[in-house]
Amino acid sequence: MHSFHYRENKLFCEDTDLARVAETYGTPLYVYSRRTITDHYRRLDSALKELDHEICYAVKANSNVSLLHLLAEVGAGFDIVSGGELYRVLTAGGSASKCTFAGVGKTREEISYALHNDVLSFNVESEEELFTIDSVAKTLGKTAPIALRVNPDVDAATHKYISTGKSQNKFGIGLDRVELLYEQAAALSHVKIVGVQTHIGSQITESGPFVEALEKLVPLVKRLRDRYQIQFFSIGGGIGIVYRGSLESGNEQWWSDSTTKGGMTIEEYVFAVVPLLKGIGVRVLLEPGRFLVGNAGVLLCQVLYVKQTTAKRFVIVDAGMNDLIRPALYEGYHEVVPVARNPKQPIVTADVVGPVCESGDFFALDREISDCQAGDLVAIMSAGAYGFSMASNYNSRPLPAEVLVDGTEAHLIRRRQNYADLVEFEVEG
Ligand code: LLP
Repeated sequence: MHSFHYRENKLFCEDTDLARVAETYGTPLYVYSRRTITDHYRRLDSALKELDHEICYAVKANSNVSLLHLLAEVGAGFDIVSGGELYRVLTAGGSASKCTFAGVGKTREEISYALHNDVLSFNVESEEELFTIDSVAKTLGKTAPIALRVNPDVDAATHKYISTGKSQNKFGIGLDRVELLYEQAAALSHVKIVGVQTHIGSQITESGPFVEALEKLVPLVKRLRDRYQIQFFSIGGGIGIVYRGSLESGNEQWWSDSTTKGGMTIEEYVFAVVPLLKGIGVRVLLEPGRFLVGNAGVLLCQVLYVKQTTAKRFVIVDAGMNDLIRPALYEGYHEVVPVARNPKQPIVTADVVGPVCESGDFFALDREISDCQAGDLVAIMSAGAYGFSMASNYNSRPLPAEVLVDGTEAHLIRRRQNYADLVEFEVEG
């Protein structure tokens, strides 16, 4: 369930009129719903109640400090992939002892920073990284807690750029080699084996690939538990969300409707994985990113021009691929809806595009949308995950502002960049 809906044809986030938020803070503007994030967290948490579990939010999905603070408050741990993400979590009041540090290319500096702060675990992705972590820990007189990330060679049936659990992907260590590497880790003086980790990909909308991965990994986890007294098994993130038809399906039916549209409810996911994990004898960690924040955010933008050519109708908005790159990079689908709905408005087929100088700068292609004109506001839905966190200054466009809605209140949680910000770090050569 999410908290974006129409009231008398005006798009609201919770009890806040989005047209007014856009008027106050300008566009393009990311707006997030506090209620949706906490609701999704609690929903997943309670669905997992039969398991000893911890939800470690994948910070990369949206790393705004206010959102991290909110998630820390409701009890989340964090899955981090850089020193910068650890810094953000600490700034937000999160605890390093609830952070798992993933990623194939951790630097010595990052390892050292994470050791100083006593992270819960390093999720190790290669033999060389294991030895580097041992060596950095030795220099610091510390012992590094480690889990090996296992690549189960499973097809996650998702976009090729966000599939991570096949043997041709750069991630993790193959099942054929992983036990040997655990043996080597056990012999090292400055690492302590604490867990096992896996993550097969992102935006996975059926339970099959998760089940397949767990069926391959659970026997391994049990062996490692008996041998090294590991404390946790992290099953990664990847739970897909509904991008299509989000508003028309009605909020109450959000998740159950997703089933009929080829999606997977969170209950279905839990129903599929819990039986495999029950009785495993170690704590289960999950690393959801998109599931927690994806449908909790929209990108508000304003129509600048409507251009009709012989081939197409283009709706040119003031947000670009630099603000939300998902359509360009993954052909990601996002609903585009009017902030003020007019049922009398004709439906037209149009491309919704941004101002960036690339043909890949689009949000929707040949999409049936309610016709609009210059000055209208539109919302690009489901933009809470991998939206702002992947935004850039391409074309020297200042980064948008971010707002967190709480009931009737809208709080600015990141101010819009200005032109001076664009050149702030440049020095005379
Ligand atoms: N754990 C690990 C080790 C990961 O690599 C990821 C995501 C997650 C957890 C969280 O996955 P999620 O629950 O959000 O699916 N930018 C792409 C998605 C990249 C995902 C990268 N890894 C997109 O916009 O679709």
